[in-house]
Amino acid sequence: MRSLSLFILMAWSLGSQAEEPLGKIIFTNFCFTCHGMKGEGNAQLKAPSIAGTPAWYLDGQLRNFREDRRGFDPSDVEGQLMSASAKALNAEQSSAVSEYVASLKRVPPVATVAADRMLGRELYRECCMECHRFNGEGEMVFGSPPLVGLQDWYLMAQIQKFRHGLRGVLTADAMGQKMAFSARFIESENALESLVAYIISLQSPAKDEMTDPFDQALLSGQK
Ligand code: HEC
Ligand code: HEC
Repeated sequence: MRSLSLFILMAWSLGSQAEEPLGKIIFTNFCFTCHGMKGEGNAQLKAPSIAGTPAWYLDGQLRNFREDRRGFDPSDVEGQLMSASAKALNAEQSSAVSEYVASLKRVPPVATVAADRMLGRELYRECCMECHRFNGEGEMVFGSPPLVGLQDWYLMAQIQKFRHGLRGVLTADAMGQKMAFSARFIESENALESLVAYIISLQSPAKDEMTDPFDQALLSGQK
């Protein structure tokens, strides 16, 4: 991975002549191999969609991977892949690539899990809304990221990682710990599938709490 830093440095010095921003050079030479050219993710590699995710969260997660708060366990294959990738970057490169990825347009994921979205909505409102907001867009002051935009297989995998001690277990990871606590309330496979099926239905921004996109679709008979 050391040679990668050198490569990025070289690409950057070449790129700066063409006035390409550092974040774009890192993304288009490196991150795209797993996350896709639009940052849309790759189901085979289990790399999530990251396009349009706020920079504060991306940069924070890159730091978590770099400093072994995430992807630290050898049984966490995807986490380890990403951890090795994050360790190829220094703090300045991380923040530059985060800014670039945040500027990409979010790519709406395709649903792959069919489950009871009404139950999912109930669970979401009871256990998740308080931090991730009614529309799943997250809330920076709580450190809670948007869930909208993420693939259902990735949402399920992360909730399982929080539940099984692969994420959010270290004392230095206060935000991860908050989420690991909340993940304990999802007790059955059915609850998990229902939740992610509901979350993935929240694609367009809702105007207010009374008319979330799911309600609007129900009212107009689309779902
Ligand atoms: C070798 C493949 C690979 C490369 C290269 C890679 N990633 Fe990842 N990335 C992954 C995988 C797999 C995950 C899912 C990790 C998990 O399940 O915990 C991930 C997760 C992430 C996450 C966490 C997303 C979230 O919602 O919490 C961020 C942020 C991220 N990658 C950014 C990047 C950036 C920026 C680059 C380039 C510097 C990059 N990745 C390069 C495979 C890769
Ligand atoms: C007490 C606040 C809180 C509650 C309640 C909560 N979360 Fe979270 N959630 C967080 C925080 C904070 C993070 C970021 C963790 C980190 O920094 O690693 C997070 C992260 C996540 C992630 C990882 C996203 C990613 O991009 O990798 C998922 C998935 C998630 N939450 C789903 C849920 C679901 C589903 C519920 C309801 C069962 C829920 N959360 C309830 C605070 C909360």
